[in-house]
Amino acid sequence: MKKHELVEKNLGLLVVLIVVAISFGGLTQIVPLFFQQETTQPIEGLRPYTALELEGRDIYIREGCVGCHSQMVRPFRSETERYGHYSVAGESVYEHPFLWGSKRTGPDLARVGQRYSDDWHRAHLINPRDVVPESKMPAYPWLQENVLSGDHTAAKMTGLRRLGVPYTDEDIAGAEEEVKGVAEIDAVIAYLQHLGTVLSDRR
Ligand code: HEC
Repeated sequence: MKKHELVEKNLGLLVVLIVVAISFGGLTQIVPLFFQQETTQPIEGLRPYTALELEGRDIYIREGCVGCHSQMVRPFRSETERYGHYSVAGESVYEHPFLWGSKRTGPDLARVGQRYSDDWHRAHLINPRDVVPESKMPAYPWLQENVLSGDHTAAKMTGLRRLGVPYTDEDIAGAEEEVKGVAEIDAVIAYLQHLGTVLSDRR
């Protein structure tokens, strides 16, 4: 009883003990995940992004698409009926940084790959209203004019390899050639068309 009174009357000690208690609770939930195969190993068939898809992903980050689109199908029926199989950790092991997001001004994009044609995406990115009249997504017309130089593609892939993404020397050697001169819009479309296609119950 006396000891408890000590903690109750000493704000500093109370704060320290609260932090210890909460950290312990958090750590027991988080630390085991580092050692579970399910969360650290790629799912079957997962491959790293091609050089072009990788550049598309970087444009997706640059343009702030993640601010309106999550990439995380939650395991609820309302989500899986709309988007397909819920997201699993093993799909994201090559993602640096993760683009799971949480803001859904637009639909989740985790499984948008192969849902629309390349032409649909092209029209939609240049002016969303041309294909979805009520859309409030911004237009990205400059994506068809900007052209990739490929100057940094190999360096990006080398960096990702250091983080454990299994790029081969050939992948990296051919990266600049693969993307050089390609319009940014084609890189974004290549990226979108691959999203969520490795694990999918749509196909
Ligand atoms: C201001 C919020 C906003 C931003 C930023 C935004 N979007 Fe959207 N997006 C939407 C909304 C709203 C929709 C639904 C209407 C439509 O289809 O246009 C949508 C729809 C989509 C769809 C169709 C999804 C489906 O399942 O039908 C794709 C693909 C898409 N956006 C890609 C992108 C990409 C790529 C970017 C960045 C270049 C981007 N969006 C930026 C709001 C946004």
